[in-house]
Amino acid sequence: MLTICSKIVVPYDHSESSKKALKMAMNLAKQNEEIELNVVMVIQPQYPYGLPYAYAFSYEERVELGKSQFETSQHILDEVMEELQFLPNKTKTFLLEGSPAEVIVDFIKGNDVDLVVMGSRGLSGVKEMFLGSVSHHVVQRATCPILIVK
Ligand SMILES: Nc1ncnc2c1ncn2[C@@H]1O[C@H](COP(=O)(O)OP(=O)(O)O)[C@@H](O)[C@H]1O
Ligand SMILES: [Mg+2]
Repeated sequence: MLTICSKIVVPYDHSESSKKALKMAMNLAKQNEEIELNVVMVIQPQYPYGLPYAYAFSYEERVELGKSQFETSQHILDEVMEELQFLPNKTKTFLLEGSPAEVIVDFIKGNDVDLVVMGSRGLSGVKEMFLGSVSHHVVQRATCPILIVK
């Protein structure tokens, strides 16, 4: 196993699908404690629809919105880190900002990743397509094998 896989990355958005992916990745990592496991969460500043946000919100309000999103995500990742501590493996969590699909692909390309384990679905609730938009993009652009968990 180690010869083909020494670093596993789980893109995590706290959706049911990504929770399953995380469990699966933890089980894989348990096979060999030299496998490193990285969990990556990407936040993208979100503003309610309607008026362009620049008009609807003051600068201070936008800073506040960004901060609360950051704190919520950091809290989720802290909980993930607690779970990961039960593994003997080296584990890390990353909170990154930007367009999730692009940031995840850049992370994979820049970090010598051997395997990505991610969910087929996320938080959007759009279910017409076989894959969610982020998983679709990552499958097309990533440079390593990807395990999609349903
Ligand atoms: N912001 C994000 N940060 C990290 N991983 C993400 C993010 N959004 C989605 N993912 C990963 O992509 C999987 C599929 O989600 P996504 O493609 O966004 O589906 P949907 O379109 O249903 O929201 C998730 O289970 C998770 O593994
Ligand atoms: Mg999504």
